[in-house]
Amino acid sequence: AVDAKVAVLGAAGGIGQPLSLLCKLSPEVTELSCYDIVGTPGVAADLSHIPTKSSITGSLPSPVSWPPRGNGGLAETLTGADVVVIPAGVPRKPGMTRDDLFNTNAGIVKTLVEGCAEYCPDAMIAIISNPVNSTVPIAAEVLKKAGKYNPNKVFGVTTLDVCRANTFVANHMGVDPKDVDVTVVGGHAGITILPLFSRVNGAKFTDEELEKITVRTQFGGDEVVAAKAGAGSATLSMAYAGYIFTENLLKAIRGEDIVQCAFVESNLTDAPYFASPVKFGKDGVKEILPLGELSAYEKKWFDKMMPELKNQIKKGVDFVNN
Ligand code: APR
Repeated sequence: AVDAKVAVLGAAGGIGQPLSLLCKLSPEVTELSCYDIVGTPGVAADLSHIPTKSSITGSLPSPVSWPPRGNGGLAETLTGADVVVIPAGVPRKPGMTRDDLFNTNAGIVKTLVEGCAEYCPDAMIAIISNPVNSTVPIAAEVLKKAGKYNPNKVFGVTTLDVCRANTFVANHMGVDPKDVDVTVVGGHAGITILPLFSRVNGAKFTDEELEKITVRTQFGGDEVVAAKAGAGSATLSMAYAGYIFTENLLKAIRGEDIVQCAFVESNLTDAPYFASPVKFGKDGVKEILPLGELSAYEKKWFDKMMPELKNQIKKGVDFVNN
């Protein structure tokens, strides 16, 4: 087996902790390094008692780490990492859109990706911190400035949109969710999320049902934000989605051909980044699969989405360059 080191940045958070737990349980992970500005020595000490083969460390910016070693910090967390997963940042409160998080999270992602450029320039970087439509372009621009950008290795995690679409359509059809795999394209916020339900074999909807399930997929995150009543946004389902995405990347690194949707640099549309069906290999994106025909209903959403998606991408690009 190949050694695979996964670094989780923001590992003490609502997403970061369950994500770290799932990575500790994953047979694909041999080394897990947890980083946050608070709490990671505790998270790592706690997870270290789980009897799986992966080793685990927890670091604060500097010099504290568990177990005590070197200087702790971002450098030790990232050195040798194959995959870096980033859920660091602040979550949404009721009434907020993902875009409202921009001012805080943009700077956090910039700093952390600067660390990646320095300490693990060959790693794959999977970004969860919202707004993903802007934070992925931020990561790309930071890496470009450092001369380290590889478009095949920087992704926004949109897997939760796929999870939600699969769950909702399986409930509608009365089938096991593991038997459906909805392609979800576009971006990762509100109307930029476009689930392609017309491609689900055997799914039948009235116009009204299709509208309902599409909008529920786009705004599923709001259901969680409302139910948590001020305590934040999706953490457990997002951790699950981030773990599935990460584990798939590790399988791809090991030589399996993996197809999954991700928000990547893409020429499927005239937006520079687009959540696309992607074939992954050991060096990241191997091929972006064609978008294919959209139904008339999907085309309507596509046209509505594009200006908003392009704006959010531009906001990220401008943050780094202006
Ligand atoms: N470096 C490392 N970690 C950081 C930094 C930083 N500069 N800034 C904040 N963090 C950590 C926090 O200390 C916290 O532990 O990120 C973690 C975020 O956890 P929560 O506040 O619980 O937020 P969470 O619900 O996990 O969401 C995080 O993911 O889906 C997105 O929209 C969500 O952008 C939000 C992010």
